[in-house]
Amino acid sequence: MIARKALPDEFRLFNDRHRAPYGRLGVVYGRYSLARYARRIRSDRALRFLGPYSFQANSPTRRFEYPWVANQIKPQVGLRVLEIGGALSGLQFTLSGLGCEVHNVDPFYDYGSGAYKIDPVHEIARLNRAFGTNVVLHQMPLPELVAQDLHSGTEEEFGDARLGKFDFVYSVSTLEHIPKDELQKTLACVPSLLKDSGRVVLTVDLFTNIYPFTTAPSNQWGTNVSLKWIGEMLEMEMENEVPGESYGYEEFSTDAIKSNLGHYSYNRGDSQLAQCISYRKSIGEC
Ligand SMILES: C[S@@+](CC[C@H](N)C(=O)[O-])C[C@H]1O[C@@H](n2cnc3c(N)ncnc32)[C@H](O)[C@@H]1O
Repeated sequence: MIARKALPDEFRLFNDRHRAPYGRLGVVYGRYSLARYARRIRSDRALRFLGPYSFQANSPTRRFEYPWVANQIKPQVGLRVLEIGGALSGLQFTLSGLGCEVHNVDPFYDYGSGAYKIDPVHEIARLNRAFGTNVVLHQMPLPELVAQDLHSGTEEEFGDARLGKFDFVYSVSTLEHIPKDELQKTLACVPSLLKDSGRVVLTVDLFTNIYPFTTAPSNQWGTNVSLKWIGEMLEMEMENEVPGESYGYEEFSTDAIKSNLGHYSYNRGDSQLAQCISYRKSIGEC
């Protein structure tokens, strides 16, 4: 489904409780300026006051995306989750704070707005310290991490360094930024990282200023990625099916999307909508 403008009550509660998606002062400072200033703050107390959603600029579609992902995962103590492209987003700290073991796999590449000007390892470590969380950052693409893990020797030798299996692999607004061949390799790694009952939970941007809405193949941020193709690469079945709102499915209609824009959470400045979708292993595989 495409993220809606109207939020269910539980999504609104999530955002109120966690100060998502802009952090405590986001409303006062505006969504772009605060992240820049917040990153300069050193005091743990001040960081805690601002909250984990203060350290990167966020699209307004995140008002729906973060609570939707959290609602799919239903965070609880001991759940193992891996995020692809977690950047400095607040959701990883929220999930960790709620007891999940969170791994953020992000090489911190330029994804369209310029190179990162931070040291991600240092930044995630200081946010972990301030929030009392334990997010594990792997600053590399997933295929590299998996290859490293496979060659990392015995479990006794490397202990916690081994990745193990996850209950969820999730990703928020990242896959559309990754070049197709790299994305294919990334998606191919995912099934082997999942427990039999494991699921993939994704939000994937849908840009209305490029193909299939216009003839332009890509924009500053990336491309529209077929959700059907993602399912095929994962070799998993789509859940939460709304094929009419899922790019790549026969039922998908640009005219229907355009005529419904008023109901969707729409980031008009970037011509961006957010598709929310999940996948599970096929019954026969479990
Ligand atoms: C728009 S940001 C992610 C936003 C974040 N997930 C959130 O919730 O706001 C895109 C991220 O994708 C990351 N990225 C780019 N190529 C990647 C790859 N091959 N694997 C994983 N992450 C990648 C970038 O480093 C960047 O941090």
